[in-house]
Amino acid sequence: MVVCQKDPSTQAANQIGARWLGGGMLRALRPISVARDRIPLHRPKLGGEENLTMAGVTLDHITKKYGEVTAVNDLNIQIRDQEFLVLVGPSGCGKSTALRMIAGLEEITGGDLYIGDRRVNDVAPKDRDIAMVFQSYALYPHMSVYDNMAFGLKLRKRPKPEIERRVKEAGELLGLQNLLQRKPKQLSGGQRQRVALGRAIVREPQVFLMDEPLSNLDAKLRVETRAGLIKLHQRLQTTTVYVTHDQTEAMTMGHRIAVLRDGLLQQLDTPQTLYDRPANLFVAGFIGSPAMNFFPGQLTAETGGHDLWVQTSGLKLKLPESFRSNVSAHTGREIVFGIRPEHIKSKGEVRDPDPGRTATVNVSVVEPLGSEVYAYLSANGHEFISRMDATARPKPGETIETVFDTDHLHIFDKETEQALV
Ligand SMILES: Nc1ncnc2c1ncn2[C@@H]1O[C@H](COP(=O)(O)OP(=O)(O)O)[C@@H](O)[C@H]1O
Ligand SMILES: [Mg+2]
Repeated sequence: MVVCQKDPSTQAANQIGARWLGGGMLRALRPISVARDRIPLHRPKLGGEENLTMAGVTLDHITKKYGEVTAVNDLNIQIRDQEFLVLVGPSGCGKSTALRMIAGLEEITGGDLYIGDRRVNDVAPKDRDIAMVFQSYALYPHMSVYDNMAFGLKLRKRPKPEIERRVKEAGELLGLQNLLQRKPKQLSGGQRQRVALGRAIVREPQVFLMDEPLSNLDAKLRVETRAGLIKLHQRLQTTTVYVTHDQTEAMTMGHRIAVLRDGLLQQLDTPQTLYDRPANLFVAGFIGSPAMNFFPGQLTAETGGHDLWVQTSGLKLKLPESFRSNVSAHTGREIVFGIRPEHIKSKGEVRDPDPGRTATVNVSVVEPLGSEVYAYLSANGHEFISRMDATARPKPGETIETVFDTDHLHIFDKETEQALV
């Protein structure tokens, strides 16, 4: 199984989790490496007839058409047991449609959908053993928090003691234990969101499906709840498919991220791989903030093909030797090259800069962020952003020397938009 827990998120989760998950619960939590080996709290179940194992989800050539519109186009994704997979992409790219097909709320036009080993294309939503959390929490306003959480279990005619146990456990896990008798209108947005999560948790499903569950929260609460969700997944380890349009959410939460555009899967990989080795221009521009800088240009060879350069008007940059095997066949071609803001530095920040990597540029705007500054630069009409150390002190209107770390340059075919390196 794949787990790429990123330290900063986990740290944040630990700090915030103390509040969010409740002190007592937090003490009971063990590090992920230990937690993974033990039998989680919520399994085995009391119920009996339900499936006792969790499961992965397989989308095998899944397509959804609404008349002429292809919302999801031949999607292949294998979500692993216990994985937290994020579906990310701009509005309208088919994320919700994909999730709703997994939930059974949307008929599948083509392809096969499996939860575990079971093909579920024609299985009713209630029989799929999944629980979904929506952006609109869809709580019953006339019911208490307790009854909102218990409702699905009552419908399924679970025994009362079992319902009480599950609601109590979920309530404690989410820090809702003192709010169980309140009505939704007596709760803050964040608390309502936790009730919606609680309602999913008490179901003890094989798979959680979440569609932009944090979108209605303000920025601070969104970051807190994000960390709380990471913690929750570490605790329950339930396979989760999480939909968002927000690349930061995707990067901070996902074990792996599937990037969608116009219903087509662009790349499926770990957050770090998407960041370091985007497969195409779209992923390169979508993942990362501030976004990668792009320059239309040419790939040229000098000294008998020994030295490779990328150039555009006002910029000429030498490529490292390691690029040669991948790009030398493309010399003379139109390309787009890209570089992330943190890989453009002011000359003073770099020891012994290679003259082939330097460029003289104009500073137009400077945004100081304390530890670093975002400098908006231009070279012969091309505009781009650099993240410099605050000590570099660039000033608007100045002309400065910059160094492009071409070890981290990305080169894309102009026609296909696919990455060459
Ligand atoms: N019920 C529907 N009927 C027709 N077109 C739809 C329907 N639902 C979604 N679509 C279209 O399918 C595409 C994907 O929508 P959706 O999955 O909601 O995107 P996302 O969740 O990524 O914003 C959009 O072009 C949308 O207009
Ligand atoms: Mg949507």
